Amino acid sequence: AAGDAEAGAKVFNKCQTCHVVANEAGEVLAGKNAKTGPNLYGIVGRAAGTYPEFKYGESIVALGASGFAWTEEDIVAYVADPAKFLKEKTGDSKAKSKMSFKLTNATEAANVAAFLASFSAA
Ligand code: HEM
Repeated sequence: AAGDAEAGAKVFNKCQTCHVVANEAGEVLAGKNAKTGPNLYGIVGRAAGTYPEFKYGESIVALGASGFAWTEEDIVAYVADPAKFLKEKTGDSKAKSKMSFKLTNATEAANVAAFLASFSAA
């Protein structure tokens, strides 16, 4: 089921320690300009591991290079357990994630994914 973007704006408080949503003009639309994680503006539809100049781990870069682009559904699965998600999607049992945070509440994850999708071109 699709998430509730409005509820997801609150859930994003848990992400903003590390992530910002800032548009091409550099205008911060959500968060406090944290740089520990990549900018999530336009993440739905974006190839994994491709935000310019962010130093990703090699597993997520490999995933994006294989042609994988984010959907809301995949974001829900990813945030529940990023390392497990990368292992499954790359088929590499040694895949690692630089995102140590986990959001296992599926409703919250669906809501934050819907919130992030609201910043992607339809
Ligand atoms: C990567 C979402 C919380 C640190 C990502 C990516 C997504 C995401 C979708 C992949 C980005 C891409 O492919 O360009 C979220 C959401 C969060 C959250 C929705 C809250 C529910 C956090 C927190 C931290 C963090 C709290 C830091 C403690 C990172 C890092 C990466 C990343 C370092 C890069 C992973 C890698 O290179 O393997 N996050 N994140 N995230 N996130 Fe988060």
